[in-house]
Amino acid sequence: MAGTPEFAPQALQALNGLRFSTATAAFQIEGARTLDGRGRSIWDDFVDVPGNVLDSSAADPGPDSYHRSAEDAALLAGLGADRYRFSISWVRIIPDGQRSTKPNAAGLDYYDRVVDELLAAGVTPEPTLYHWDLPTELEVAGGWLNRDTVHRFGEYVEAVANRLGDRVRHWYTINEPASTSLQGYALGELAPGHTMLFDALPTVHHQLLAHGTAATILREHGAQQVAPAINHSLILPETDEDADHRAATTLDLIFNRFFADPLLLGEYPDLEALGVQMPIRDGDMELISTPCDVYGFNYYNPTTVRSVDEGPLPFDMVPTPGAATTGFGPLWPIRPDTLRDFLIDMRTRYGSSLPPIVISENGASFPEPEECTEPIRDDERIAYLHDHLLALTEAIAAGVPIAGYTVWSLLDNFEWADGYTQRFGLVHVNMTTGQRTPKSSYEWYRNLIAAVRA
Ligand code: FCB
Repeated sequence: MAGTPEFAPQALQALNGLRFSTATAAFQIEGARTLDGRGRSIWDDFVDVPGNVLDSSAADPGPDSYHRSAEDAALLAGLGADRYRFSISWVRIIPDGQRSTKPNAAGLDYYDRVVDELLAAGVTPEPTLYHWDLPTELEVAGGWLNRDTVHRFGEYVEAVANRLGDRVRHWYTINEPASTSLQGYALGELAPGHTMLFDALPTVHHQLLAHGTAATILREHGAQQVAPAINHSLILPETDEDADHRAATTLDLIFNRFFADPLLLGEYPDLEALGVQMPIRDGDMELISTPCDVYGFNYYNPTTVRSVDEGPLPFDMVPTPGAATTGFGPLWPIRPDTLRDFLIDMRTRYGSSLPPIVISENGASFPEPEECTEPIRDDERIAYLHDHLLALTEAIAAGVPIAGYTVWSLLDNFEWADGYTQRFGLVHVNMTTGQRTPKSSYEWYRNLIAAVRA
């Protein structure tokens, strides 16, 4: 097996019931931002503002999967991946996001082709319907602060399901609503770049409603597996002081339970202490908690917090003592044990309300060159993936139902506000030529999948 370390037979057996996948997202891989009637999204707006993206790159052409989807399907077939999680760009389908707009045929044709290429390669397509690219016009009308956005999303989902629902049975609805609400609307680090702090919280409710709305529509179109992709992080207090423990509890509430509780229990955690009210109407909580077939769970790292007395938030995020870090630096510590612990906590907290979990993203970036003439030896990535999969086997042994595992990402791609400075791929991409070169982690993942199946 390429790279080290390897798995013991027992661990391979524990992984036997899982489906293996890799993930990408439309804005991060497609390029072709102005082709074939595609409209503008909040990410087009974000990247066009000088200074917003670390390396001033603008997601075009990048991996150029709009023109190279057949190569991506061949790479997935070469891996032996069971599934592929990619995303559909809302503005390729409904360019201005509006109700009256006829779906854009060229956009639908593109995803139709992607789905057929995957099926022909023996890979199950698992599209995500919202991976952060909200149509600009909807953001102008309030974006996820505006309940109407949920209805516009439903219309878009309907258009996609009408076209692809005969072949696509597995769907992800929304990706990482916590990132959108907290980094996008509260702190301004991601599009749409608002700094509204706690006033951003209605965006949580509306995204969760969008999930419930989509789930209902997709089921009417024969979906067999519908899931949100929720990002979680185990929150650690920096010290054993009470104040740090309280800070950790607060962030856990905001980052994790604000999302998991309504989805799995049909209610928000107690928000009174934060002085927050959600814009809940009759029937909302039932729609949000409509049972999921699996729970999509994105996990990268724990978050360590320190209590602070002054400032907009009652805590600061600080490096995790003693942990090695990824290419993202001190706030992306490598602690696979926290994945295991978080999963076991979830099982304890949600009990029989927790459906099987699919790890819908897990992976790491490390510094790698823009050009390569031979496969990059990414031993650190292999170790990261290996150790997280091992943590998963420990969670499985403790009784957590795990149905699948997804590496972020198949390809190096546009890492949002960090541009092309963070490479997460199993496959290296030269962002100038689009050339794809599998890294040693690709070979390692392929061998792992084969060994699990053997
Ligand atoms: C997640 C996003 C994904 C990618 C990874 C590294 O938060 O869902 O698009 O950027 O992080």
